Order: sequence, then C-alpha cells, then structure tokens
Amino acid sequence: MSDRLLEWFQNHPDEYISGEEISKEWNISRTAVWKQINRLRAKGYDFEAVPKLGYRLIQQPTRLDERTLLLKLKTSRFGRQLRIRSKTESTQNEALSWAKEGAQEGALVLAEEQTSGRGRQNRPWHSPPGKGIWMSMVLKPKIPLQFTPHLTLLTVVAVCRAIKRVVPVDVGIKWPNDLLVGERKICGILLESFAEDERLLSVIAGIGISVNLDEQDYPEGIKDKATSLKIASGKEIDRATLVAEILYEWEQLYQLYEEQGFGPVRTLWEAQSITIGRTISVNTPYGEVNGVAQGLDESGALVLLGRDGQYRKVFSGDVHF
Ligand code: BTN
Repeated sequence: MSDRLLEWFQNHPDEYISGEEISKEWNISRTAVWKQINRLRAKGYDFEAVPKLGYRLIQQPTRLDERTLLLKLKTSRFGRQLRIRSKTESTQNEALSWAKEGAQEGALVLAEEQTSGRGRQNRPWHSPPGKGIWMSMVLKPKIPLQFTPHLTLLTVVAVCRAIKRVVPVDVGIKWPNDLLVGERKICGILLESFAEDERLLSVIAGIGISVNLDEQDYPEGIKDKATSLKIASGKEIDRATLVAEILYEWEQLYQLYEEQGFGPVRTLWEAQSITIGRTISVNTPYGEVNGVAQGLDESGALVLLGRDGQYRKVFSGDVHF
C-alpha cells in the first residue's frame, strides 16, 4: 500500500491530496492513511500537511551511494574497499564475514538500515532506514590484544573531531566511547576483536550515528536519552560528507597511533571529554565505583579519585553523572 501511495506522490510533484481523497481512492480508513504517511515519514520522506488541502511530498530521502562517497574520500586506505547495503542484520556481521574472506584493512560496510543492529553488552541498536550512519570497518592493527581499548578511544576521538568539522553542535565524549550533545547520546561505538592464540587477527569497528532522525523516529525508552545531529543543529546533514570526514580523521589518527602510540590519542580524548572533572559513578562488572574522573591511564582505563582519597581505575562499565 505505502508503495502505491508513494508512487502517486512521486508522480504528482507539487500536488496536494487530502486524507479523504486518499482514503476513497485506496479504500482505506483515515487512520490507515495517517499510519501510511507516518510509515513513509519514518523512511525519510517528508510531507507538508496543510488543512483543507492535504499532504504534499516535499522531500525524498537521500541515499548513500558508492560513487558519491568515493568522490568525497580523502583517505588512502580507509573506505577504499566499500560495500553499501540497503538493509542488513548488522554491518558488524557483514564486515566480519568480509574480513574472513580476506578484506583489507580499511574495508567498510555501510547500511541504510539494520534489522538487528547491536550495541555494547549486546543491547539492541535502533537503526531505522535512510537517516543514520550505520557502518563497520575492518582493522588489522599490529598491536597486542590488551591494547584494543586504545582503538575504541581513538575511534571516538576521530568521530568527535569529524562531527565538529561538519555540524555546528557542541559534542563531547562520555567515557569510554559515547558521543553526547547535552545529556543526550548521538553516537555509539562498538569494537569487536578476533584473536587466535592471544594474537589479534582483526577488529571490527562499528559506528552508529543518529544523523537525520526526527523526534518521531525514536521508540519510547530511547526518546528521552537520545538525539540526532539534525535535531541538535536544526539542519539536515549530508551523510556522505560526514562519512568522508570521519574516515579522514580516523585514518590520520590511526597513522599517528601507529607512529607514536597512545600518548597523542589520550591527550585528544581528554580534551574532548565531558567526563573528566565530574563526579560520576561507574557500573562495572565488579560493582559500582564512585569518584571524580581524573583522566585516562596508559591502558585507556579511567582513573577516579574517591571521597576516601584513593585512586581507582575502571576498565569497562557505564558512566552515570
Ligand atoms: C553502543 O553505544 O552501545 C554501540 C553502538 C554501535 C552501533 C553500531 S551501528 C553500526 C554497527 N553495527 C552494529 O550492529 N552495531 C554497530
């Protein structure tokens, strides 16, 4: 149904059609009309609704396409092998299969929509069509397995810098790897490592950014905790430009890390952090740790100073302010 309705709108640019006319023409109730319009809105189609005149299609979703993205790339390795899917379960799974088939470092999988996107601690990751950046890249770092947290911190710094270049929003890093605007999350990062006999074979680095989502695209339960770059800036963002900028920042920082180690990344992470200096509690697998966040140690752990004057390190967990 929504396909035929969409076809009508696409064949009649600039024309209004009222809810009543749609309901008569397609023999459906007024509630069903409203549901179909909302379904199309969730896919990135934008309608103007004018009393007495009805609906008019004013914007169609822009799709990510390989040619446009490759033209924008400023990198030498990252994103040069590229797969763009309309729909997939999770770009993490696709990138891993590709890595096993021999994809090179920097191979990138992007999807318009994920049906089983996942976040840290196996939480579901809401990935509606056409409005976000849902992507995973294959990394093959020559580092010991215990250094992989460095890559998570490096990735979030790169995304933060790229967003700041493209979108006028005040974005900051919440330890270890969330990006927030105000108190709301706009980006999450998931790194999955694959090793054999303690040797790191590959890392699949997944990035999820809420780019052009509108308020109505968020299900209950996420609505009050998340926001998008579009909501925060009041502007529709060109996703291909942002992807290209992220890959550029990411490759630069990765090269710096290969040459100079974690030091420069740590400094940049601390400079963009909204966690440091605040009194926080961290839910770790071993219980709650409280204190004022001081900074990162050389392994990427967060150092807290407790009220008892003791310093404590946390290696994983969720931060609460
Ligand atoms: C988190 O904050 O919990 C991490 C979210 C990571 C989501 C991204 S979207 C692209 C990639 N594919 C997935 O299934 N997850 C990551």
